[in-house]
Amino acid sequence: MQDQPQLGDTPPEIFRQQLHQLVDWIADFREGLDKLPVAPNDKPGTIRGALPSEPPENAEPFDKILGDINRLIVPGMVHWSHPMFLGYFGWTQTGPGILGEIATAPLNVNAMTWRTSPAATELETLVVDWARQMVRLPEKFGGVVYDTASVGIMHALAVAREEAAPSTRKLGLTGRNLPRFRIYTSDQAHSSVEKAAITLGLGEENVQRVPSDSEFRMDVAALRAMIERDLASRQGGIKPLATVATVGTTSTASVDPVPEIAKICRENKMWLHVDAAYGGGFAILPEYQWITKGWSDADSIVINPHKTLFVPLDFSILYVRDLERLRRVFTLVPEYLRGDTIEAEKNYMDYGIQLGRRFRALKAWVIWRSLGRAGMAARLREQMRLTNLLVDWIKADKRFELAAPVVMPVVCFRFIGRDGPPGRPRTSQRDVPTKADADINSEIVEHINASGRAYLTQTKLRGRTVMRIGFGNILTTEEHLRNVWELIQKTAEGSGGSPNRHGD
Ligand SMILES: Cc1ncc(COP(=O)(O)O)c(C=O)c1O
Repeated sequence: MQDQPQLGDTPPEIFRQQLHQLVDWIADFREGLDKLPVAPNDKPGTIRGALPSEPPENAEPFDKILGDINRLIVPGMVHWSHPMFLGYFGWTQTGPGILGEIATAPLNVNAMTWRTSPAATELETLVVDWARQMVRLPEKFGGVVYDTASVGIMHALAVAREEAAPSTRKLGLTGRNLPRFRIYTSDQAHSSVEKAAITLGLGEENVQRVPSDSEFRMDVAALRAMIERDLASRQGGIKPLATVATVGTTSTASVDPVPEIAKICRENKMWLHVDAAYGGGFAILPEYQWITKGWSDADSIVINPHKTLFVPLDFSILYVRDLERLRRVFTLVPEYLRGDTIEAEKNYMDYGIQLGRRFRALKAWVIWRSLGRAGMAARLREQMRLTNLLVDWIKADKRFELAAPVVMPVVCFRFIGRDGPPGRPRTSQRDVPTKADADINSEIVEHINASGRAYLTQTKLRGRTVMRIGFGNILTTEEHLRNVWELIQKTAEGSGGSPNRHGD
């Protein structure tokens, strides 16, 4: 007769051994991280091809599973925590962040109501308020933790929709004589605005992209003109619903003029959402107080502590001026949860579409206590110091030029030719892109990423491809940056004006 599968959990002594094994693995992984290739250079399907396609019928030992993580998973990763990873909005893996994640795992609660997890609920309220204080948002803003900023903006615009078209939660949008709602955001804003419009039945095309100025900030005059045009539309029936201003845009980290945008929103009774997913965290620095101007006039604001405030992914906070406005749209208590919702301080299931919720607040609490605001501020300042160094190096090398003003630790720059084109202005506003320009800058990034030695991203500004470095990893030192810069210079030199040549 075949052995019956064992019931219950791993015996405690064995679990303890496995945990030690895992802890050693984590520590070894971190110690050896900077020796690993930053990114694999495999073809799609390589990892799946090396793994059994059928689920295991019988239990497998942890040794073997951990061995496969080392052998197959680790080499197939882009290591976002590698000190030479400078792509996207680089984020950080930290000792305290990992401890916070590990401590969350055994608790494994569902924080849907206060009753189902009082500590998770109250800690969420606490850390959301800590973050509010750190970024100096007024007390009238209450918040809720979601996984991402995309989910945050979707909820914010759902409240905007409900306030502009009362009873939408009850009756929906169709079969009623409602206007065509419009949302305005800059041509630099994140695509999560369209995603929210798609989800909410407002329509992707009703997100109107407002041109940005020479520094990639929303052009307020253009916003005003677009709203006026829509209000005066001959077909009629267009209603400006909301404007989404960005503090720290995805490509260049530019900051929209929020106070002026807030004024337009007030005049037209529109919702103002501030997407500070990336930039918001910098408000913990006194020298960045300027970015918070106008926030108190917003209806909602999203910050992503998993981008700039050192919390491991995922952890995003949506703040709403008077959080009750959000609750009114999403509270719905089914009979089977009614007993759980009385006597509650707060039931987070009332503040969004999600019922089951992870205990995300614990990792934020662990890391914010471990670093302190001053510790985070010092690390953000170090990112800015490295940023300024890189900017100096770019300015000193006539083969390169900055492609956008540097506001936060994000640098967009271009290779402009081996000798730097004679007589051409060295600013970002130069005329029309050539195909070779785009190819070279894109190829430099691809070549470096394929080498596994560093990781950058590319973006397009005014139709021109540029290289982009985003700092965010606390392990990146000046030496790493120097190595990356040398690598960029060498790779560019190899490309040297000819889009098809690489300097291997
Ligand atoms: C400005 C901005 N807003 C929103 C988002 C979406 O963030 P999330 O991945 O948390 O949805 C991003 C992502 O990078 C972003 O840069």
